[in-house]
Amino acid sequence: MIHVSSLDELKEALSSESDHPLALVPTMGALHSGHVELVRHAKSRGFHVALSIFVNPMQFGPGEDLERYPRPLSADLDLCQKEGVSLVFTPNVSEMVSENSSIRVSHPVGSLYCGAYRPGHFDGVLTIVAKLFHLFSPDIAVFGQKDRQQLFLIERMVAELDFPLKIESVKTVREYDGLAKSSRNRYLSESERLIAPFLYGRLLKAKEEGVPKNHSDQQAWLQEISKNLSTLGFRPDYVSLVDRETFLPPTRDSSGLILLAAAWLGKTRLIDNLEMDE
Ligand code: PAJ
Repeated sequence: MIHVSSLDELKEALSSESDHPLALVPTMGALHSGHVELVRHAKSRGFHVALSIFVNPMQFGPGEDLERYPRPLSADLDLCQKEGVSLVFTPNVSEMVSENSSIRVSHPVGSLYCGAYRPGHFDGVLTIVAKLFHLFSPDIAVFGQKDRQQLFLIERMVAELDFPLKIESVKTVREYDGLAKSSRNRYLSESERLIAPFLYGRLLKAKEEGVPKNHSDQQAWLQEISKNLSTLGFRPDYVSLVDRETFLPPTRDSSGLILLAAAWLGKTRLIDNLEMDE
């Protein structure tokens, strides 16, 4: 496994990889079995895997957890080695984000749902992911369905800007009790950890109930879900239903719907989503 941190080293390392089809797995590190699943997906399809670890300051707002975001580099490198990753890139902030960085890749859906509560977050994500795509020129890039809005936006960016690569996605990897794996789960206190799986539990119950047919019933249903989450001890940011193709509110023509939720438990913000028709 090659581990590089500078852009020059990266270019050199990539030239030695140029004979192999390459998959890029962008991450912010603190790797867990969700990330591992992305690597395994790429490997099972015959790709050499490049994994980037970069806690991207552009996607953190003021007062968010940029400083305290976990950075267990040596454990991450061990895991990459064990999983057969070919190349790990751990860049410095100075080479990834220029001092007066002001270019942003943006899409209107980036200001809805999570974006409404984290202004500029998705612009920061898209901008850094675009840069990583340029640096690596991978054949595919693999993302998790856990961050569904992020996945949608990256797919749109690749389609609209004709990036010459394919986006592949992997289903959300969960703890034994349903909680979606996340690098931020380690912030949860013992008592919060017991409540956390009920977020997914409530989405599953919603799917069982079935999505109401008309708009006003849907709104009442979403409010009820949000109220239930509050009763369980969460502070919901939003519970929304979206068309899977447009990420906008459902219409009569919608072919698939996704229920999205973000909710706080103490100082930890959890997100999850569930396809309503699969
Ligand atoms: P990060 O949160 O580290 O996630 C990296 C990738 O792992 C993303 O594609 C995310 O969807 C996926 N992932 C995280 N938890 C998962 C789970 N439980 N199951 C399946 N996949 C999971 O997402 C980011 O970093 C950043 O925004 C990034 C794309 C790297 C840009 O900075």
